[in-house]
Amino acid sequence: MDIERTLAALTLPEKAALVSGKKSWYTAAIDRLDIPALMMTDGPSGLRKQTADSGTTNINDSVQAITYPAAALSASSWNTDLLRQLGEHLGTEARAEQISLLLGPGVNLKRSPLGGRNFEYLSEDPLVAGELGSAYVQGVQSQHVGVAVKHFAANNRENQRFTASSDMSQRTLRELYLRTFEIIVKSALPATVMTSYNKINGTLNSQNRRLLRSILRDEWGFHGAVMSDWGAVANNVQALRAGLDLEMPGQGQASVDSIIRAVETGELDEGTLNKAVRHLLHIIENWLPADHHDTYDHAAHHDFARHVADDSIVLLKNRHQELPLTAKNAGNLVVVGELAAQPRYQGSGSSHVNPTNLVTPLMALQNSELTANYYPGYRLDQSETDDSLAQAALEAAKSADHVIIFAGYPENTESEGFDKTSLMLPENQGELIGSLAKVNDHVTVVLQNGSAVEMPWINSVDAVVETYLAGEAVGEATWDIITGKVNPSGHLAETFPRRLTDTPMAPTFGQDPHHERYTEGVFMGYRYYDTHEMHVLFPFGHGLSYTTFEYTNMAITENEHGATVSFDLTNTGDRPGQAVPQLYVANHASHVPMPTKELRAFTKVAVAPGETKPVTLKLTRRDFSWWCEGKARWQADTGDYEIMIGDSSRDIRLQTKLTMDFKNSPAPVTMETYLTTIVQDPRLRDIFQATVLAPKYAGENNFLAATDENGNLALLQDQMFLNMPLRAVIALGGPAPLIADFIAAANERKS
Ligand code: BGC
Repeated sequence: MDIERTLAALTLPEKAALVSGKKSWYTAAIDRLDIPALMMTDGPSGLRKQTADSGTTNINDSVQAITYPAAALSASSWNTDLLRQLGEHLGTEARAEQISLLLGPGVNLKRSPLGGRNFEYLSEDPLVAGELGSAYVQGVQSQHVGVAVKHFAANNRENQRFTASSDMSQRTLRELYLRTFEIIVKSALPATVMTSYNKINGTLNSQNRRLLRSILRDEWGFHGAVMSDWGAVANNVQALRAGLDLEMPGQGQASVDSIIRAVETGELDEGTLNKAVRHLLHIIENWLPADHHDTYDHAAHHDFARHVADDSIVLLKNRHQELPLTAKNAGNLVVVGELAAQPRYQGSGSSHVNPTNLVTPLMALQNSELTANYYPGYRLDQSETDDSLAQAALEAAKSADHVIIFAGYPENTESEGFDKTSLMLPENQGELIGSLAKVNDHVTVVLQNGSAVEMPWINSVDAVVETYLAGEAVGEATWDIITGKVNPSGHLAETFPRRLTDTPMAPTFGQDPHHERYTEGVFMGYRYYDTHEMHVLFPFGHGLSYTTFEYTNMAITENEHGATVSFDLTNTGDRPGQAVPQLYVANHASHVPMPTKELRAFTKVAVAPGETKPVTLKLTRRDFSWWCEGKARWQADTGDYEIMIGDSSRDIRLQTKLTMDFKNSPAPVTMETYLTTIVQDPRLRDIFQATVLAPKYAGENNFLAATDENGNLALLQDQMFLNMPLRAVIALGGPAPLIADFIAAANERKS
């Protein structure tokens, strides 16, 4: 297509139609100019294709498709290669269905564990969400299917999601809630970005010029199209002016008419409309599906869904090596819980998929090496204990060698569209876990849930396996982990707090219908719990293995552009395993409140028993930077940092100090600069020594250069004196000309 010629040939009503969407899943076709309609479909963990002619209004009524683990689980893999392959599989399936745009991934941060859509989002940390999201996007788009990265941005609660404003400082926005999108936009070049329903600091995101034009396009260099979430636009003319290219699903002729009217009255410049049309024509040109229908191997894709779950399920606890349970050691095994027969394996709302081949844990048990007696134990459709079901399970548990109970949130407690109100399992499940643990010493809990759970019973059970929402191969993957056929290697991409009231936003989350105030700032997730040294149930990054890993030989090289950190990783156990080394940086150089550590790099490494592998992780200048609101830019400060390699944010294995010199970054020295700052900075201290303190100045009525009987510079040992700015030093009789020389020399290197 010759985009400029096509644009010139389009009439105003045709252009208005193009930017307005057509029915639920299409852009408008302009037959006169051979411009086809593009089809788009949810969603992040499997296709939800509702055909044009199906006329269905039921959100769950879609073509059959492979149901992959929800993002909460696949993110726990911490495996970018895996997420890229997941994207490739989804892309292949979308192409076979003639889909141009896949509406995913969902990459917002899990700010509060109550967030209704947490199951669909990747992490509480912007780097994990950004790197994994980027790999997924690259995978999908490698199959010639575009994505919609959603929901841009700060969509962290569901209640009143169409109107509530996410209110936060620019630093919080940049360092956390925009950071994920920035990583993905810059590294994966997504076809489209979907704006979220909410406002940020009072402005609706789909009508937010700063967000859509200044930041997304001008700063980050986004070249794709921006579409709205379904029904997110309040005023389509304002949205176009702000930088939205496509209103979805569009309000039919009403949307088209209001654009025509706005151009005719001069309210909307036609040049602005043309920009949006141009973006859309590029999308149509780039992502139109090929004519031929590809197919894919359903069985192989189902196996891949199992592999994703295998690589992601998190072994949270394993006291006395309760797991793995094999045919040899399981003895008389009892399996409890209706969720084993009717698992929760996917989220609800727009990411709901109609699975091709659901294999429940009970079904998969038949094909595993284990044999067990099964008892439902509780009813999923109620939260009260059903005494006869519970009693039957307890009786069986008394004489069992091992008990496995399946527990989790029922579907009606977590979904798109509303937030959770509690982190507790339904009463009947929680009680039953406690009672089982009283009659049996070998209880394993298998969890099926979309986000963090409180576990008041944690000390009474031996093992906990977090399977989140594991997709259609939930049954197979669960036993793969329990039997040790697969060595667990998932790690939490979110913190599990001990209780809801420990979360920093507990008193305010969802309270004000109009505003969600992010008063915790950048202290969210582990950044909060670690800084405040709070106990947590399971820390960010935590995940056990059936083998053990040792970290040794840390070495760092650095320059003004960043640093390279290397170390050795040894598998000290007796079976192959995968470790997830996490690199955290603590910033001691900057004079703004900083979390005690922030994740800046990670990887996943497979290591054979007895093998040692060298690992190298890179840090860029940005990894040492923070968002300076005053200067409206990223700032990296010269000074001390701590580099930590951990197996979780609380299990730091290697640690070393690093002094970074960013050359042009120190704050300028002025009369307001304190002596402490000068004394603590090696470079400033040397210049101060040379220009003000050197013995040659001692005679010049320079009390700063006076030494005590041991020859030490007396006043520079004095805490009260150090706590003075240069201006005060001069006022007290310090040598003004020498201090002026010092300031000039200190600032010389700044560019
Ligand atoms: C959701 C989007 C989804 C869209 C289309 C909206 O309600 O927020 O994530 O892609 O519906 O189903």
